[in-house]
Amino acid sequence: MLDMKKSFWLEFSKKQDYPKLKENIKTDILIIGGGITGILCAYELSNYYKDITIVEQNELYHTTTGYTTGKITYQHGYCYANLIKDKGMARAKDYYEANKMAFDYLVNQIKEHNIDCDLDITDAVLYAKTKAEYYDLLKERRAYEALGIDHHWGENQILPFKTYAYLKVPGQASFNVVKYLDHILGRLSDVKIYENTKVTETVDNDQEVYAITTDNYKIEAKYIINASHYPFYKGFNFYFLKVYPTIAYVAVGKVPHEELVPNGLYINSQNPIYSIRYAVRDNEKYLMLAGQSRDANQIDDFKKELSALKTFGKEELSIDEYIYEWYNQDYDSTDMIPLIGRVKSSHSYIATAFKKWGMTTSVLASIMIRDLITKKVNKYQELFNPNRSFLTFKTIKYNLKMGKTFFKTKLLKAIIDNNVKKGEGSIVKIINRKYGVYIDQDGKTYVVKPICPHMKCTLLFNNVSKTYDCPCHGSRFRYDGKCLDGPAPRDLELLDIDLKIQPLS
Ligand SMILES: Cc1cc2nc3c(=O)[nH]c(=O)nc-3n(C[C@H](O)[C@H](O)[C@H](O)COP(=O)(O)OP(=O)(O)OC[C@H]3O[C@@H](n4cnc5c(N)ncnc54)[C@H](O)[C@@H]3O)c2cc1C
Ligand code: FES
Repeated sequence: MLDMKKSFWLEFSKKQDYPKLKENIKTDILIIGGGITGILCAYELSNYYKDITIVEQNELYHTTTGYTTGKITYQHGYCYANLIKDKGMARAKDYYEANKMAFDYLVNQIKEHNIDCDLDITDAVLYAKTKAEYYDLLKERRAYEALGIDHHWGENQILPFKTYAYLKVPGQASFNVVKYLDHILGRLSDVKIYENTKVTETVDNDQEVYAITTDNYKIEAKYIINASHYPFYKGFNFYFLKVYPTIAYVAVGKVPHEELVPNGLYINSQNPIYSIRYAVRDNEKYLMLAGQSRDANQIDDFKKELSALKTFGKEELSIDEYIYEWYNQDYDSTDMIPLIGRVKSSHSYIATAFKKWGMTTSVLASIMIRDLITKKVNKYQELFNPNRSFLTFKTIKYNLKMGKTFFKTKLLKAIIDNNVKKGEGSIVKIINRKYGVYIDQDGKTYVVKPICPHMKCTLLFNNVSKTYDCPCHGSRFRYDGKCLDGPAPRDLELLDIDLKIQPLS
């Protein structure tokens, strides 16, 4: 049975274990979160500051980053036509140039330092699987022409299933993100790193800037970088109204022969999305298929969605056996632009809503935050400004939908299932009370109250990742209640209660 640990990438991890923080400390830069964004912020600032600290509530890069598909591209799916329509040509051009700059920076860094991370330079391909997508691609091609993005158009079938057209950006890349980050960590010997250390509170005003951890230790800092996926900074910002979680599944297997799917980074424009790339292990190539993307607020059966992805891989790409499968979530913003920069009138910086394109965007964020802290001008600051107005029709529409989701989780019978198998979990209802129950393979039962500590939505049990997931704003908790992601301020409490549930065999 697969669990959150089973990611193709994490099997490569050679990172050491880092200690838990057990004292009060002072540091110049405190980075909350040790995914790709936090680690790269530390790297970029290490030439300017000797005293940098990363605190990670779990293990470095074991949340979103370790479950990515690791394409490095500024193609970002079907996006430029929409950016021009909603934001205008100048902003769309800035978005493209910022991500191209980050792409070039990352690829050059890997080449210059000879970083062993399976870098593969290849084409990024937006393909049309339907007639409707064909028209999207025509619009996207016009956007590329207007923005000066190098591209190639084709109408021959490019994949084993019917495709109507494709828009290719040459010279893009893929890599093994864990091998890359292990190399970067090796260059951060002066950075203090603490794992299993969760920040529960930050204070940031003219007199003092500090964070408090779960064990009540104080970390005083000059600057705090929120590289925590969902921004930890609270203030009066209500980020949960501006950013929203979207999910997807990944399955990895072998195709019968590599000519079936030519090397490349493939993605289509409309749901169901199927993203495809190759990944290498022991000189063997595996196909990494990602898809069934959707907003996290729909209440669907996680296992069925994963199964639909695998069926597509079997029927259309002839993948008979999958060796890895997982679930992952990233944040999107209600105005399509990530939030990167300094929180107004504070010593805090945030970087979030990478829209499943965090490989280039995290590099961009680390460069922008480095420039902001070291008082250099960064030309992309205005576009990504996290303090911009979000009073848009899309923001209002999204938040109305969120209110509905809250009530759906309260009323919905479909999330209740009193039958729990070993190695699985469920939301059960006993004498009118809901409990979250997970029974491990040895029969040990873990019981929690399935209510999100953020704003009290009822949690769903996700049997793909063995987590409790909040459909409202994306908080996620391991089966034993440990918080993994999202705005929830604390873990779920494990209840010492015997519900007398016998696992189904
Ligand atoms: C299915 C899927 C496929 C993807 N594929 C691609 C791709 O091909 N190319 C691409 O460019 N992008 C891709 N992405 C997006 C990319 O993986 C993410 O944008 C990126 O990994 C986010 O990195 P991060 O460091 O910001 O967040 P994370 O990796 O989530 O790191 C944040 C860290 O902060 C820690 N943390 C949170 N709160 C606290 C706290 N209070 N105290 C201490 N620590 C805390 C968390 O534990 C976590 O480890 C994909 C995303 C998904 C969902
Ligand atoms: S994350 Fe907001 S209610 Fe759960």
